[in-house]
Amino acid sequence: MKTMDNSMFKGRDFISLHDFSQDELSYMLNVAKELKAEQKASRPHPVLQGKTLGMIFTKSSTRTRVSFEVGMYQLGGHALFLSGRDIQLGRGETIADTARVLSRMVDGIMIRTFSHQEVLDLAEFSTIPIINGLTDLLHPCQVLADLMTIQEHKGRLAGLKLAYVGDGNNMAHSLMYGGAKMGLHVVIASPPGYKPDPVVVAAAKADAKANGGSVEVVDDPLEAVKGADVLYTDVWASMGQEEEAKERKVAFEGYQINADVLKRANQSAIVLHCLPAHRGEEITDEVIEGVQSVVFDEAENRLHAQKAIMALVI
Ligand code: CP
Ligand code: NVA
Repeated sequence: MKTMDNSMFKGRDFISLHDFSQDELSYMLNVAKELKAEQKASRPHPVLQGKTLGMIFTKSSTRTRVSFEVGMYQLGGHALFLSGRDIQLGRGETIADTARVLSRMVDGIMIRTFSHQEVLDLAEFSTIPIINGLTDLLHPCQVLADLMTIQEHKGRLAGLKLAYVGDGNNMAHSLMYGGAKMGLHVVIASPPGYKPDPVVVAAAKADAKANGGSVEVVDDPLEAVKGADVLYTDVWASMGQEEEAKERKVAFEGYQINADVLKRANQSAIVLHCLPAHRGEEITDEVIEGVQSVVFDEAENRLHAQKAIMALVI
């Protein structure tokens, strides 16, 4: 490892990309790139030897669980899967007590849960770094991996146009934050009633202004994708919204990335999706399986990006 200096990161929480500067995110992306190269060259990099990560999940996961667990192993440490159904948190033990107990035993906590406030509370009562593995509000680890993927395919971040078509959800929020910080032009197209949180939009707009990017929220998906370098979409009904799935299918009609929509973007545009995808809803099978789709590079980069987060904050 050549570049890794964790002095400005050690002990910090990774809860929102809004909490990090452009320089810090660039640094994290460089560490991720380096860790990816080490892994591909089969060079051991046990920078977290003897360290343990607790992973609390109150929602399902494939990518997040596997990438954190494998990532910790590759860094020489150990990860513990703590299902919300099995630990005492699920039986009413408080977040504050859970935070203090785990802080005495493990070196960092990754949490995936519903309420963002729960993650903030966990951070308040913990003495170890807290990593946000997705809340209803944000999904910052995913977007760090997305930025890495865009950089790999486009050679840069600043000045690119990223169009997100769909629900103004946790993905839209973190893409606005991460994109704004890195100088991208982010346009979110969502139907009325499903726009991103205005508080997040305002904060991301301020970040964009300070970092040379822009953030815009529109109704029309075709307007959003015009001239875009990166197209992004996510499921219409997120975890916890299963009962709304039927009404959302109606509301999101027309908010699909299909061949016709893709044609209106730049010819060299790439297509991202955090996965899992619902083919035939927010994206067609043709587009997600097409040559412009980089969704599996994106999924792989979860591993490398999160190894960088863990190596820097723990
Ligand atoms: N993209 C993502 O976070 O996937 P999982 O829900 O499988 O972790
Ligand atoms: N918006 C989706 C993202 C899944 C990775 C959800 O919260 O379910």
